[in-house]
Amino acid sequence: MSTEQRKILVTSALPYANGSIHLGHLVEYIQTDIWSRFQKMRGHECYYVCADDAHGTPIMLRARAEGIEPEELIARVWTEHTEDFAGFAIAFDNYHSTHSEENRVCATTIYARNRDAGHIVRRTISQAYDPEAEMFLPDRFIKGTCPKCGAEDQYGDNCEVCGATYAPTELKNPVSAVSGATPIERDSEHLFFKLGNFEKVLRDWHKAGHVQAEVANKLNEWFEAGLNDWDISRDAPYFGFEIPDAEGKYFYVWLDAPIGYMASFRHFCNRTGVDFDAFWDADSKAELYHFIGKDIIYFHALFWPAMLHGAGYRKPSGVYAHGFLTVDGAKMSKSRGTFIKARTYLKHLNPEYLRYYFAAKLSSRVDDLDLNLEDFANRVNADLVGKVVNIASRCAGFISKRFDGRLSASVDQAELLETFARAGDEIAELYEKREFGRAVREIMALADLANQYIDDKAPWVLAKDENRDAELHAICSTGINLFRVLIGYLKPVLPVMAEQAEAFLNVPPMRWDSQRTPLLGHAIEKFKPLMTRVDRDRITAMIEDSKEDLASEVKSTSKKPATDSPLVRDPVAATIAFDDFAKVDLRVVRIAKAEHVEGADKLLRLTLDLGGETRNVFAGIKAAYAPEDLEGKLTVMVANLAPRTMKFGVSEGMVLAAGPGGKDIFVLNPDAGAQPGMKVK
Ligand code: 2FM
Ligand code: ZN
Repeated sequence: MSTEQRKILVTSALPYANGSIHLGHLVEYIQTDIWSRFQKMRGHECYYVCADDAHGTPIMLRARAEGIEPEELIARVWTEHTEDFAGFAIAFDNYHSTHSEENRVCATTIYARNRDAGHIVRRTISQAYDPEAEMFLPDRFIKGTCPKCGAEDQYGDNCEVCGATYAPTELKNPVSAVSGATPIERDSEHLFFKLGNFEKVLRDWHKAGHVQAEVANKLNEWFEAGLNDWDISRDAPYFGFEIPDAEGKYFYVWLDAPIGYMASFRHFCNRTGVDFDAFWDADSKAELYHFIGKDIIYFHALFWPAMLHGAGYRKPSGVYAHGFLTVDGAKMSKSRGTFIKARTYLKHLNPEYLRYYFAAKLSSRVDDLDLNLEDFANRVNADLVGKVVNIASRCAGFISKRFDGRLSASVDQAELLETFARAGDEIAELYEKREFGRAVREIMALADLANQYIDDKAPWVLAKDENRDAELHAICSTGINLFRVLIGYLKPVLPVMAEQAEAFLNVPPMRWDSQRTPLLGHAIEKFKPLMTRVDRDRITAMIEDSKEDLASEVKSTSKKPATDSPLVRDPVAATIAFDDFAKVDLRVVRIAKAEHVEGADKLLRLTLDLGGETRNVFAGIKAAYAPEDLEGKLTVMVANLAPRTMKFGVSEGMVLAAGPGGKDIFVLNPDAGAQPGMKVK
């Protein structure tokens, strides 16, 4: 290393422990992972930690809806999340949970120190309360008629029809989304963090360049509007940590969420012996970076540094916000199949395609990023398969067949290799500044040079002339060395391909500078294709599969709205008029045949006998029933549902079932005496 070794701690935002990881989340994890892998390759002491964000009302209610304890829910989701992240080669040094002893200790310490320094006050406030569910209701759990435009079924904080924002008390005909009861107003004492005490500290910290320029502008607006006290407590019942000196009151999920960064690192230090204080003391020389989405800037650029400062800890060196993901130019949509879960993607496509595509489109700015699926396929195929892998595949065969797998003792064009090596400084600077798109463009420009070189030298022509063996050897060896430098530069983005390339090149794990000296007289392994082209049919299948997910899906797990969105089925979902109900043609049917559907995880294909007519219906009940258990049974179907084209064929209706889903779904089974074809009244 030419520069001094730095101590760096990096985090990504903590995903909620009640939803699946989807491609929108992955923008951030991939961005952070590339950056931390880059720092590690440079030889710095860099750690990347994260955790599940496990507390809060939505998680408590979701567990309740599933009939399990929150601890069981968050343990299950933790396993899913860690598997999904591993699938995308996100290399956390530690992945913890905010529902952990380390976090309890960190949160309590930060709270107590702020309290003792006079930054916490108590005040009684009046809030919406559900008398039936016996709980206070977060804004997102109250629904009613928009006071501005009259749209029905709107959340308590803003109207999705006219965009108005308001207090839940302004909603007309409010109802609780938990029980359906009409909320009442009730008083309760809350604890507040006096954010205003930190105005100067925060202004100075922002001026010192710890946030992006466009974020600093936004923060100025917030300063102008005035910094309000922040409500950090919630009343029981609540899934979280009870506040030590306030019985029956819990830390609000957003208080202990960022503290989860610290707790995850504490857990890591306990395990490894790394010095925690060296990273968190007020005068720490270590660097601390948080990668986040633009929707949570307020928490990370105001509350979090203020809490840290108030508790005598260091503040972050950088808070880096990114924009949201769109797919084909639009918000991710479940009905269009563009709300793609990490797991669904992994079933169909190579994760490194996505890592590369995101890298190619990421910058240090807060801009939104579009995953254009056509461009995705084109770019991965052209750049990675057509340019990078191609260099090795054009040269490697000659080395193994003609030169016994050994590279030449000298290269053909030292100056070309020198150009490649020199470019490393600029590419490193781009990675450092999080200008990944520009870094990728530089690397691809080098790949063009390498391909140009091979085109000019045409080894396949030389290979026909045995007298030119030495030339052929040197040219192919040069090509392999050029490939090696490129893979080294791409390693933060494509760690899996880089590892395979290391095996092919027969070299130890590449670091940033280790490609500066060429491999000479070195034995390499036989070349195996490192990446195949993106198959467009797989993209189509992934989109179809994402549509299919919808059937068994509970309500939205989208990145926004973040905190208090009800993630349970809404018991006060809009009512329908009797006339609408009368339109539904419910029929008793006999399940004439039930079969597995090849390639479908959740579906069974049912042939339904309506008493004369048969219908083909796909039902998401595979986890609950074996086909043979169903054949011959009676059930109820919606017979006049418009046919729906699914990946596996057309579904001509729907069978009725009850239950939370998965294994616990029960196909309705009318009494004996019912006959196929009978109308259900
Ligand atoms: O917005 C979210 O998904 C939150 N769970 C992020 C928390 S980040 C940090 F503060 F913990
Ligand atoms: Zn409205």
